[in-house]
Amino acid sequence: MTRSSVSRRDFARLFAIGGSAALFSDPAWAKQQQPATALVAGPASGETFWKDVRDQFVMPPQLAVMNAANLCPSPRPVLEALRRETEHVDRDPSPANRARLSPEKEQTRKALASFLRVTPDEIIITRNTSESNNLVSNGLDLKPGDEVVVHADNHPSNLNAWREKSKRYGFSVVTVEQKNPHPGMAHYVDAFTRAITPRTRVLCFTHLSSTVGDLMPAAELCRIARERGVLTLVDGAQSFGLLDVNLAEMQPDFYSGSAHKWPCGARECGVLFVATRAQSKLWPTIYSAYPGAVGFSRTFEGFGQRDEATMIAFREALTFQDTVGRAAIERRACALATQLMAGLAKLPGVHVWTSPAPELRAAVVAFQPAALDATKLAAALYQKHGIGVATRGGQDRAGIRVSPHIYNSPAEIDRLLGALTSYLRSGL
Ligand SMILES: Cc1ncc(COP(=O)(O)O)c(C=O)c1O
Repeated sequence: MTRSSVSRRDFARLFAIGGSAALFSDPAWAKQQQPATALVAGPASGETFWKDVRDQFVMPPQLAVMNAANLCPSPRPVLEALRRETEHVDRDPSPANRARLSPEKEQTRKALASFLRVTPDEIIITRNTSESNNLVSNGLDLKPGDEVVVHADNHPSNLNAWREKSKRYGFSVVTVEQKNPHPGMAHYVDAFTRAITPRTRVLCFTHLSSTVGDLMPAAELCRIARERGVLTLVDGAQSFGLLDVNLAEMQPDFYSGSAHKWPCGARECGVLFVATRAQSKLWPTIYSAYPGAVGFSRTFEGFGQRDEATMIAFREALTFQDTVGRAAIERRACALATQLMAGLAKLPGVHVWTSPAPELRAAVVAFQPAALDATKLAAALYQKHGIGVATRGGQDRAGIRVSPHIYNSPAEIDRLLGALTSYLRSGL
């Protein structure tokens, strides 16, 4: 479904449960009315549409959190499903009443399969991306002499995990270094191809990096690995729910994601895709009761007692995304990031770590705010301007990370740029 196919009546129906948002009372910004800012992107009707989307989130209107790479809020239909289904079990936890939850879990599996364009037989419902990644690094039979090729810009759940497990199982980890700025897709295709040897068993990288938002040539890397008999694990924490991901085209062996990031689902729910051809190579990590009902989930997903309410709410989040339009979500978040990149390029002393090339990034933007202390700057932005951003400490591409999503607006990006301009001029 695309933006143009969504009518206001669809919204009215889907979002009929919405009510008025309660305002926060504590920080100074929550009491201020923000001045109106000129819109810089989209026709008026477009902004009306996105205002309707924003109204589905219970964050107070003055609060502009741009931290989707870390945690997203859930819209009203997701919150309502979570409340309704939790209460359903708490009102009557009898086996008879809970019996309907297993088919509900399978409906979520089906929704995830359709969302990622694969089959329900290949979907495992996990707790988050960390768990999904670790189910892969735990479950493959790897021994001394085997090699795992990893990108240096992986999250710890995919980098430290392989390194630590190599100490236990004796395989070697070969690291492909990250380069900044993004050196282009051809560089990484070449670097990964050269890193693969006859001993390589697994190649693993992050589709869109959480550090500075570098996009990797996922389909190309999966193809190169497949042609050489190497398994691929693609960490999708930053692409699932942001980009219109099509695993039928990408063809990884494993792909991981979290509900509570870009899909705006309930917290502590995630997905692991395991391609049919790779299933016989992955041992279960957990043996317990309550497995799934179809495909690989019957033997791999016996994780014990689960919270089905969270899984049902996850499905509601996927429905919400389909209603807004997945292509429209990708376009909107990326357009907000482009607006931010354009503004940052004009600010003196600001060093932007994220590539200016639209085909090498998406909606995660990281920058060093000249000589300003990033932690103090983030605190000032939140306390005085109602803008939530993440900080990146350490020596590696340190500074501020901004990741706008569908609940943000061009006016909020302007507000952030305006605040940055004045702090760069006058200090914190
Ligand atoms: C690329 C990447 N992988 C994995 C994770 C871990 O996600 P979670 O905490 O939901 O398991 C993150 C979290 O930010 C991430 O950015």
